[in-house]
Amino acid sequence: MDCQKIIDRVYAEVKAGENLGQVAAYIPELSKIDPDRFGICLTSIDGRQYRAGDAEEPFSIQSIAKVLSLSLAFACIGEPIWKRVDVEPSGTAFNSLLQLESENGIPRNPLINAGAIVVCDILCGYFREPKKELINFIRRAANQPDIDYAADIAASEKSTGYRNFALINYLKSFGNIHNDIDQVIDLYFNLCSIKMNCVELSHTFLFLANNGVQLESGETLLDSSRTKRINAIMQTCGFYDEAGEFAYRVGLPGKSGVGGGITAILPNEYAIAVWSPRLNKKGNSYRGMKFLERFTTETESSIF
Ligand code: DON
Repeated sequence: MDCQKIIDRVYAEVKAGENLGQVAAYIPELSKIDPDRFGICLTSIDGRQYRAGDAEEPFSIQSIAKVLSLSLAFACIGEPIWKRVDVEPSGTAFNSLLQLESENGIPRNPLINAGAIVVCDILCGYFREPKKELINFIRRAANQPDIDYAADIAASEKSTGYRNFALINYLKSFGNIHNDIDQVIDLYFNLCSIKMNCVELSHTFLFLANNGVQLESGETLLDSSRTKRINAIMQTCGFYDEAGEFAYRVGLPGKSGVGGGITAILPNEYAIAVWSPRLNKKGNSYRGMKFLERFTTETESSIF
């Protein structure tokens, strides 16, 4: 199978089709992005890389980063993490407050905003310098020391982040935030701000396709049993109220972000990153979904 040929063809087909949806505007800095950017990179566990389009253009990975903070927190504290956050799909929007009231401030899963904020609180309780430890973990996964928080995007989100402030205060009222809310929300906004390009992003997620082991360094970032669980959570919760649709159309564990990125993995094979900033109504990249659906169909590489 000529992977580059398939990527080039599917890329050209999707690019020739319509580009529907809107760029996320509730974070002012994200609304400045050219909506027609489109990049792809697939990195395989045998070290090969296939690219198309704007694969080297950095963008804010937003919620995709929640998988990395979750991996670190799970590696640090193990099973007790599930006392603070559940593992059920929410069927609601990523920023919903609804279920928290009837579920005693325990977020449905760690990939919705409420759950990711609790994970940031766990990291704040565990580390003396959580911001530094988190970016170090992500740099080790990426095997790239230059990956960093984007201060302008974090500040931009903070200036309009009313929902997330509501969520953290509400969580705190249930006793499910143990640290200072300013410190925790700062970590959360910084986490979401991180910039990568598709090449770096697919490379960063490769450890989840490789039983938790970083390819070049050989470091075990997460043991294989926990890696499997993170992938299960991506499969069931990575696309919020569109998780079923993504499983149905693409058939891989994955995660989206409102910057227009999507990452997906095929265990023991590859990690792929797609970026196209226009989002559908559920907040997931319109072209990203289309590309992955066609790519996994043509390569017959779904997990099902
Ligand atoms: O908290 C927020 O709303 C954003 N920083 C992240 C949301 C996001 O990426 C949802 N994903 N599709």
